Amino acid sequence: MGRILVLNGPNLNLLGTREPAKYGHTSLADVVTSLQQRAQQLGHELIHQQTNAEHEMLEFVQQAPQQKIDFIIINPAAWAHTSIALRDAFAAINIPFIEVHISNIHRRESFRHHSYLIELAESGIYGCGVYGYQLALQAADNFLSTKS
Ligand code: DQA
Repeated sequence: MGRILVLNGPNLNLLGTREPAKYGHTSLADVVTSLQQRAQQLGHELIHQQTNAEHEMLEFVQQAPQQKIDFIIINPAAWAHTSIALRDAFAAINIPFIEVHISNIHRRESFRHHSYLIELAESGIYGCGVYGYQLALQAADNFLSTKS
């Protein structure tokens, strides 16, 4: 049993209608519902937050230790490519995390190839569509059960 925090960055509230050829037709609410169901089956508590405001995302990360979060799954969206502040927030907490991108960022514009977070992450999953979140949850479960 662990507490898993799922964080989604800017514009991911538009999932399902935003550039569906790249990000698919599934809404964020549907992604979160299926993650909640799977987390429950695996015996974990799953908390989800999405924000379009970078300062709010920094606070979610900073507050994770007080909230006794064991693992973080984050799709930082564009902040992966821009935010040294988000990287610093992850460096300040001692919580393992996986970085998810729905699209294959390495097959897209060169400015998407670099992530400020990936060096700090346990792993990265990209190009699997929204199924990448399920893969990350499975990996988080494996990480938490091998740790305890
Ligand atoms: C994304 C990829 C990012 O480059 C982009 O800015 C997004 C979504 C993805 O999930 O594929 O907003 O993180």
